[in-house]
Amino acid sequence: MTHMHVAGSIHADATSAAPVWLIKPADANALVDGLWSGTATRAADGELHVGGLAASEIIAQCGSPVYVVDELDFRGRAAAWREAFDGWKVYYAGKSFLCAEVARWIAAEGLNLDVCSAGELAVALRAGLDPARIGLHGNNKSDELLRVALSHGVGRIIVDSSDEITRLERLTAELGVRAQVLIRVTTGVEAHTHEYIATAHEDQKFGFSISGGQALVAMVRCYGSPRIDLMGIHSHIGSQIFDTNGFEVATRRTLRLLSQFSEATGTPLPELDLGGGFGIAYTSDDSPATAHDLARGLDDIITHECRAFGIERPLLSIEPGRAISGPPGTALYTVGTTKVVELGGGHSRRYVSVDGGMSDNIRPALYAAEYSALLANRVSGAAPVLSRVVGLHCEGGDILVRDVFLPGDVRPGDVLAVPASGAYSRSMASNYNHTPRPGVVSVRDGRIATLIRRETLDDLLALDAGLD
Ligand code: LLP
Repeated sequence: MTHMHVAGSIHADATSAAPVWLIKPADANALVDGLWSGTATRAADGELHVGGLAASEIIAQCGSPVYVVDELDFRGRAAAWREAFDGWKVYYAGKSFLCAEVARWIAAEGLNLDVCSAGELAVALRAGLDPARIGLHGNNKSDELLRVALSHGVGRIIVDSSDEITRLERLTAELGVRAQVLIRVTTGVEAHTHEYIATAHEDQKFGFSISGGQALVAMVRCYGSPRIDLMGIHSHIGSQIFDTNGFEVATRRTLRLLSQFSEATGTPLPELDLGGGFGIAYTSDDSPATAHDLARGLDDIITHECRAFGIERPLLSIEPGRAISGPPGTALYTVGTTKVVELGGGHSRRYVSVDGGMSDNIRPALYAAEYSALLANRVSGAAPVLSRVVGLHCEGGDILVRDVFLPGDVRPGDVLAVPASGAYSRSMASNYNHTPRPGVVSVRDGRIATLIRRETLDDLLALDAGLD
């Protein structure tokens, strides 16, 4: 969905009402089911509590804005995915959110880690993660990155281009090591999600095309390469996907490719990775499947397709990111100004400006992503009014929550909480307008721990070579 309209006069009718999916709440203080992290409650003091701490207390200790990770919820989700996908290998997609402590939680809960850059790999290695449990992605891995991965014995490299195979052949010989690889394939699936986060249609940068034949050619090449161990293939169809239809088509096409490879070489490949992309709830309109239901659904599809192709069931893996890191994260902001804007036709919208914005969550601006928000530091008896939560940046598109009903008396100094902010918020944050990025803290049983320190203006100014 996009929110574009042609330039011209203000579209009073089009902008006057809440979107159809947004229901005016009977009580704007209530936590909507399924949106909040496991330990979030509206406590007796009227505040939103997470991990046993009041929102205002977290801000008092850690500053504002701040990303709050509910540790028990994060670890519980990691464990739930591992248990639901019993017998599969589960790789947590670190691009959704990664820091040293999260890498350790992931390892402690029995998961593996998917990284896709030199930075993510460095965090994982410095955190002490067993390199054998790391999978390395990327469509443009440098020699340097591949060298680090190969010399540390990273468990698998997901190969994305012929150039990369050539590099791996050279570097494995140079280093005297072997490379375990999966070939990333493009299944041609049109995932029903935002164009920028759909990755399996043909016209995009990732992978080798199955239909064009390049996938099979790359597989046969790796198979014949003296220092490359071809483990299998990998498909990731996109992100924030709710239905299993796309996975069904991708599974059919990847299993057919495995059977073609087996026919061509006489050797079956052991592994199929189905990537990540499992959707979560950002608003009351989203109803994602549970890990358990997804596991059952994918299992049925695989059993059926393997039978149809007459092949053994391969080892299976998945790479959920957002489904593990998204719901445990809550972003807390402090309200700075409020403004009622008349839209014409007797309609108005309340703009609530907070002390963050598109620099700490680019997703609404980039993907027209919808979020929700709650007045967190108190309950209010004021009637809910249609509001838009915006940031402090010099851009009209600096919107955090496009449409939400907030109590009509939200005022400067109040704390707003945005649920489902754990994935792709901090990891995609920028310093736009010279804004320091917020810190990330974990909360558990009334205790706060810093995961990533808040940036300061001095951190930013220290990069400016014109300043001493
Ligand atoms: N595996 C691969 C190969 C991926 O490329 C991704 C995401 C994942 C797993 C994890 O996907 P997840 O389960 O988190 O959806 N920045 C966008 C999402 C782009 C994700 C890119 N790859 C967003 O904020 O929605």
